[in-house]
Amino acid sequence: MKITMIGTGYVGLVSGACFADFGHDVVCVDKDSSKIAAIESGQMPIYEPGLDQLVGGNAAAGRLSFTTDLAAGVKGADAIFIAVGTPSRRGDGHADLSYVYAAAREIAEALDGPAVIVTKSTVPVGTGDEVERIAREARPDLDIAVVSNPEFLREGAAISDFKRPDRIVVGTTGDERAINAMQQIYRPLYLNQAPLLFTGRRTAELIKYAANAFLATKITFINEMADLCEAVGAEVQDVARGIGLDNRIGSKFLHAGPGYGGSCFPKDTLALVKTGQDHETPIRIVETVVQVNDLRKRAMGRKIVKAMGGDARGKTVALLGLTFKPNTDDMRDAPSIAIVQALEDAGAKVVAYDPEGMAAASALMPGITMATDAYSAAQGADALVLVTEWNAFRALDLKRLAASMNAPVLVDLRNIYPAAEVRAAGFSLTRIGDKA
Ligand code: UGA
Repeated sequence: MKITMIGTGYVGLVSGACFADFGHDVVCVDKDSSKIAAIESGQMPIYEPGLDQLVGGNAAAGRLSFTTDLAAGVKGADAIFIAVGTPSRRGDGHADLSYVYAAAREIAEALDGPAVIVTKSTVPVGTGDEVERIAREARPDLDIAVVSNPEFLREGAAISDFKRPDRIVVGTTGDERAINAMQQIYRPLYLNQAPLLFTGRRTAELIKYAANAFLATKITFINEMADLCEAVGAEVQDVARGIGLDNRIGSKFLHAGPGYGGSCFPKDTLALVKTGQDHETPIRIVETVVQVNDLRKRAMGRKIVKAMGGDARGKTVALLGLTFKPNTDDMRDAPSIAIVQALEDAGAKVVAYDPEGMAAASALMPGITMATDAYSAAQGADALVLVTEWNAFRALDLKRLAASMNAPVLVDLRNIYPAAEVRAAGFSLTRIGDKA
């Protein structure tokens, strides 16, 4: 199959490289010429484990190429995937679809034969209808089918999520040619037993939002349980284990923490809330999740101040990890941003170290000092806070850290350190959902 991927952001680049790895002939298109030049020279625009080898290997094998010329990239394609950004629109929280619609028009104008246009970007219910209308309006002469194929990739694990998915969702309007094309494209995966679920197009669009909102709800539920655990003297990790062993609940996405962040959950939960309101079907549970999660991130700042005895003025707080989760350099909606703001408002000075996120974080938070590693961040600090659970922070020499600090206070917002070990190293310890 000849596949064109419009947009070399996180989803487009990973999907394009993985499709090429399946043996398809893939062209990735992006308007940003410096980005294309960088990718071609082996510089990935995002930090994603294994991506540089996957891109390099498939490009060298002649199955993956890059261009800024959309019209040339689209010529002869069997399927064109739209994987451009859908940021939250300023002011109202709706997804901004202008890039998607512009891509749809440009693709249709450039097509030289019948083709399937696939929306891979996360788009609200009904977007496929509008993409189809735009494409048909631009090219009434062509047989164009529009399908929805949402992605369920996690940053940091995107390649394995793509190659070993729990399911592939394809929403169509029943067009046989489109269904056959999608079956061919995903053939290597469903030969591997991955369920390929065909649904209506609007249903597929909604599945994506429902999945992310459900996961965000699960996280927020356990985060509120964590607060209750602290109040009543219970341990949230055991609560999570105790409920998660029930197959109907499942053990994943029950790690209490500082609140969810990233480029997906905050944006998608908000967009689903707006869709519900627009259709006079408010999704009240998700409205509450959004509010609770927003409040939680700042509340983490207050938790840190409390751990320092209630006064942070003139004190130094060292943060370990800034990105919204490990194995990414993504700072979008990271809890660290609200935490830093709360700490600075309380009069503290913030020092931080993150293995991959410091460049993006410096631009967002110019007031914080970046350290060269975890030990230099902790040097002389009044509190050490584990914000993001990078593996590199799991085996730190706790005694060395405690000895180098002005006050050995550890706040573990991800519950990765064994309490007894931390205390034996001389720290006072604050965890999430655990008074122990
Ligand atoms: C999420 C979904 O997991 C993917 O399936 C989806 O495709 C993607 O959004 C998307 O819509 O593109 P991602 O944002 O990369 O993926 O990251 P997650 O691993 O889901 O983590 C999101 C946030 O939830 C992080 O801040 C993480 O720390 C937090 N989290 C996750 C918890 O606090 N507790 C958990 O148990 C799990």
